[in-house]
Amino acid sequence: MKLCMIGTGYVGLVSGVCFSDLGNNVICVDNDVKKVENLKKGVIPIYEPGLDELVLKNYNNKRLKFSTDLKNSILKSDIIFICVGTPTKKNGNGADLSQIYNVAKEIRKSISKFKIIITKSTVPITTGDEIEKIISQKVSKKFFSVVSNPEFLREGEAIRDFTYPDRVVIGTNDRRSNKILKNLYSPLISKGAKYINTTRRAAELIKYASNAFLATKVTFINELANLCEKIDVNIEDISIGMGLDKRIGGRFLRAGPPYGGSCFPKDTKAIASTADKFKTNLSVIKSVIKSNDNRSSLLLKRVFNILKNKIKNKKICFLGVTFKANTDDMRDSSSLSMIPSLIKKGAKINYFDPTGEKDDFKKLKNVNFSNNIASAVKDSDLIIIHTEWNDFKSINFKKIVMNKKFIIFDMRNIYTAKKMKNLNIKYFGVGC
Ligand code: UDX
Repeated sequence: MKLCMIGTGYVGLVSGVCFSDLGNNVICVDNDVKKVENLKKGVIPIYEPGLDELVLKNYNNKRLKFSTDLKNSILKSDIIFICVGTPTKKNGNGADLSQIYNVAKEIRKSISKFKIIITKSTVPITTGDEIEKIISQKVSKKFFSVVSNPEFLREGEAIRDFTYPDRVVIGTNDRRSNKILKNLYSPLISKGAKYINTTRRAAELIKYASNAFLATKVTFINELANLCEKIDVNIEDISIGMGLDKRIGGRFLRAGPPYGGSCFPKDTKAIASTADKFKTNLSVIKSVIKSNDNRSSLLLKRVFNILKNKIKNKKICFLGVTFKANTDDMRDSSSLSMIPSLIKKGAKINYFDPTGEKDDFKKLKNVNFSNNIASAVKDSDLIIIHTEWNDFKSINFKKIVMNKKFIIFDMRNIYTAKKMKNLNIKYFGVGC
């Protein structure tokens, strides 16, 4: 099939490349000329394991193309995926849909035969209705169908998540589009993915509800971790004990820093704000947002306690600064608020991240990037394990820290207190 992905950000690029790998002809369009030029040279704008190889393979066999020419790309394609950004509005909690609507206005200029227009970006409920309205102002409804097909790709696992999804959700009442899309996804369905056809609004809501629920799970276990710290119980035991109940499930029950990234913070705010518009109070999600917003300062207080409030001139090392492992994404990472707060109190920060130095910290005084673990932790008073990269899972701290009295604060519980006690290392985890 001939596909066009509008927007080569995370969603558009990964989905476009994976669709081309399934044998479709895909044009990935972006209005960022530099980005498109780079992609043509094989320079990938994001860090996602396995993506470079897949881009190269499909670009070389000509199933994958990159372009800045939106009009022509739409004309040549049967299925158009809208994958542009839907950030949180600057002055409010709702999603800023200007990019989506601009694209809809462009699409309506280039419809000469039947096309399926799909929102893959996460868009608030009723956005599909709005897109349909915009296009139908210029084009007869018999020439297009607007469908919602949300993505559920995790950063760092996106190719696997695309290839082996738990479910494919298609929101449309139009039988013709449903048949075409079921065919498009048939290679994944035959490998076990469940295919769900529902209404467009329901598909839009499924995406938000899923992310809000996962965010709730994370926040729930994070709050329980606070209780565990007071009653000498290990949160890891609680996660295992709860997670083995099949109705609950063990995933997303790992206590740690607040949830971050490009989706959970944005989507929880957007669903609560959409519900407000429909005069429905999603109070659970609202309190999840509040609790998560508060979590970085709670963890910071713990750092102050661990260092007995003597922060000035303390050498603190962050291992990992991204919001989670296997991504270079800094969006809504708790390190963005923790590191500036610590330097304000006079700490000296060293950090190492497998994805390299971060622009966010370049201008800050007393924040230094080390390009390997050993030099980052050397002479530290406190080592904060902030992100759960595999690289940090078997470090011989005793050998490389060179400061006899160093302390570890493991915000991801990748080590155990018992193991550290045996090694005679002063160690704190989360929720224990
Ligand atoms: C998420 C959704 O999983 C995906 O379906 C959606 O389309 C995009 O948003 P992503 O943001 O890449 O994916 O990260 P995810 O792995 O879901 O983690 C989200 C946040 O929750 C991270 O900050 C992560 O560290 C945190 N988390 C996750 C926990 O703190 N504990 C857990 O047990 C699981």
